[in-house]
Amino acid sequence: MSEVEDSFEPVLPGTAASDYERYLRTDELLALQKAPDELTHRDELLFMTVHQSSELWLKLAAFEVETAADLLGGGELAGALRLLRRAHDCMKNATVALDMLEHMSPWEYTAFVRPLLGHGSGFDSPGFRGVRRVSPLLGQAFHRLRRNADLSVVELYRQGRQHEELYQLAEALVEWDERVTLWRVRHFKVVERIIGAGAIGTQGTPVELLGKLIHNRLYPELWEVRNELTELAKKEEW
Ligand code: HEM
Repeated sequence: MSEVEDSFEPVLPGTAASDYERYLRTDELLALQKAPDELTHRDELLFMTVHQSSELWLKLAAFEVETAADLLGGGELAGALRLLRRAHDCMKNATVALDMLEHMSPWEYTAFVRPLLGHGSGFDSPGFRGVRRVSPLLGQAFHRLRRNADLSVVELYRQGRQHEELYQLAEALVEWDERVTLWRVRHFKVVERIIGAGAIGTQGTPVELLGKLIHNRLYPELWEVRNELTELAKKEEW
C-alpha cells in the first residue's frame, strides 16, 4: 500500500471498514430496521424509517430547546435564539417526513402493517415526550427575563424596538409553538387519510381526540397578546 492510501486508513476505534461508518455507527443504525427476510409487508421499511428518523429530529429539537432555556437562565439571548432556529427546522423536518406515509395504501397499512404494532402508540414517542418536557422550561426562562426587564407581555410587544432581543425571543417561542402545532395538524391529516377520523388508536384513543389536541397551545399568553393589541389599537383609533 502506498503512503497516500495508508494515510486514509481508519483511525477511530471500532471494527467497521471506515471512519465514516465507525463515527456514525452506521452498522448499528442500519440494523435497527427489519431485514428484508423479516418483513411481513414491504411497507414496514417505509413505516420504520419515517418513525425512526422522526424520533431523531424530535430528539435534536428537544436538545436544542433545553439548551436554549439554559442559556436564557444565564442571560444569553443571542445564543438561545440561534438554537431555537435550529429547533424550528427540526420540527419542519419531522413534519415533512410525514408526507412519506401517504405513499402507503390505507388497506395495506390497516390490514398488514398495523396488526404488527401491538399496543405501540405515538403517545409513547420518546422524541415527542422530550418536546413536551422542554417546552415549559423555555416558557419559564422567557418570562423570567421579561419580568426582570419589568415588562408585561403587551408592553414588550408595544415597545419591541427598545427590547429587540427579548421581542425576537418572544417571536421565536411563538414560532416553536406554531411548528409543534403544524406537526400535530399534519399528523392528524395523515392519520385521517390512512386509518380514518372515526378509528380508535392502538391504545384506545379515538383519532378524533388528536384533532382536539391541535388546539393546545404551549404559550397561550403569547397568542392572547395579539387579541389585546388589536383591541388596544382599536381604542387608540378613537
Ligand atoms: C401511519 C402513520 C400513523 C398513524 C396511523 C398514527 C396514528 C396515531 C394515533 C391513532 C394516535 C393516537 C394515540 C393512539 O395510538 O391511540 C397517534 C398519536 C401520536 N402519534 Fe401517530 N400515527 C402515525 C405516524 C406517526 C409518526 C411518523 C410519528 C412520529 C414520531 C407519530 C407520533 C405520534 C405522537 C407523538 C402521538 C401523540 C400526539 C399528541 O400528543 O398530539 N405518529 N398516532
